[in-house]
Amino acid sequence: MNISRPTAALALLTATLAAAIPAQAAEQSGSAPISAYTLVAPRSTAASGLVVRAVMPAGAACPEVEVARQRNGNVRFERVAMRERTAPTTTYPAFSSILVCSAHLPVDVIGASVAGRPVPAALPAVVDEVAMVSDTGCRIASFEVQDCSSPDAWPLAAISQAIADDEPDVALVVGDFYYREAACPPTAQAMCGSSPPPVTGLPFTDSAYGWIADVLLPMAPLLSSVPLVMVRGNHEACNRGGNGYFLLLDPRDGTEDACAPVPGDTGLVAAATVPTGTYAIDLAVAPGRTLRLAVVDSAGGSDTRVTSFTSLQRPAYQRAADLTRSRPGRESWLLTHRPVYGYVTTQFAVPDAPFNPWTSADQTASSEGLLGSFEMVLSSHIHIAQAVRLPGLPSQLVLGNGGTQLDPAIGYPLPGTPPTAGYPVPDWAWVAPRFGYAIATPQADAGAWRISMRDPAGEQFARCGLRDASLYCVDAT
Ligand SMILES: [Fe+2]
Ligand SMILES: [Fe+2]
Repeated sequence: MNISRPTAALALLTATLAAAIPAQAAEQSGSAPISAYTLVAPRSTAASGLVVRAVMPAGAACPEVEVARQRNGNVRFERVAMRERTAPTTTYPAFSSILVCSAHLPVDVIGASVAGRPVPAALPAVVDEVAMVSDTGCRIASFEVQDCSSPDAWPLAAISQAIADDEPDVALVVGDFYYREAACPPTAQAMCGSSPPPVTGLPFTDSAYGWIADVLLPMAPLLSSVPLVMVRGNHEACNRGGNGYFLLLDPRDGTEDACAPVPGDTGLVAAATVPTGTYAIDLAVAPGRTLRLAVVDSAGGSDTRVTSFTSLQRPAYQRAADLTRSRPGRESWLLTHRPVYGYVTTQFAVPDAPFNPWTSADQTASSEGLLGSFEMVLSSHIHIAQAVRLPGLPSQLVLGNGGTQLDPAIGYPLPGTPPTAGYPVPDWAWVAPRFGYAIATPQADAGAWRISMRDPAGEQFARCGLRDASLYCVDAT
């Protein structure tokens, strides 16, 4: 955490804030939020770079956000109206049990709460701890069921609490939130018997109850403690969890309909999964030093082949390159769910895939020649922790170990082939097939970071250094 951040003082202020507006709290006492959290948003959405979301039970009214603003040494208490983010009518009834409310946080906010519940109110003036966690949901699919009832087999709640205990300044979650894509099989009731099944008759698999089970409840400690940069994964494709993602977690206004089902010949069909616009988030790291995050939507495309999807995907990477042009004091990371160059275990290799064992061929091809401005690429998608170095290119960090069923523990020899034509062969990689998250801390030199890999109990199991766009990791001894 930033040691200059007055956490205790803010907590006190938030309590004061709640007490200062008792009528409002009482008014809302019958309809407490199911969840309330703060998303980091592009400045084109909110001047402060932050939006607050409240997930309410259906039938409630949107609450107000109570904020304390400090300007010229004076603290002023205000209320900010929240507006409904309306689920598309063609998703009915999957999201009819909740009301999602959103508000832009004003600038100069030093404390905020929703119906008496504190929410993260600001990014600190200097960010010095960045949490990273991804691929978090509990897998319930026709081909595999994870034991969602076991905190060891699905440790997301512990990971979420461990991150909250670390008190980072911001968290980056780069996709694959939603894994409850099938009804719990009769033979697996002990593992997932309480899991909400997909709503029948709809061309997608997510629902409000599924998002509550997979995200809002287990991630509650994280959601309530730190502003979140959210990135869409392929599990948030429009025929999977995309509708809930855009309703709940995409920070931009007007994206609720991005995955709305559309009429087909015999009923509703899922919307096409196409990349939404790339945007940038700036984090102040030190005076005169900014970390720019370019957020690319890589929910679509093929993992194993270069396809025509690249013509849809490449503009997203082109925009990322444009947004991160070299500028004094700026360093940049690319955030994209599918790795640009990450590789899977040989046990998962698809026999006739031309780029085995590399994954996400469409992303690799789409971004070719567009990565020169980045110090690092942060992705998930492969359910392990992995770092890969390609000569002359930014290192790839994969953190797909946030709770979803891990990939096999063996079978990761350094590939002797390039990820696609046009790329070099890797010269180094590190793999850790174990659950956890990471905390990145900036070092004195521009572009230099230390990255601590931690297990669900918060214990460091490996440490990495990033310098000159090159990652190096070693297991903790
Ligand atoms: Fe995944
Ligand atoms: Fe994925």
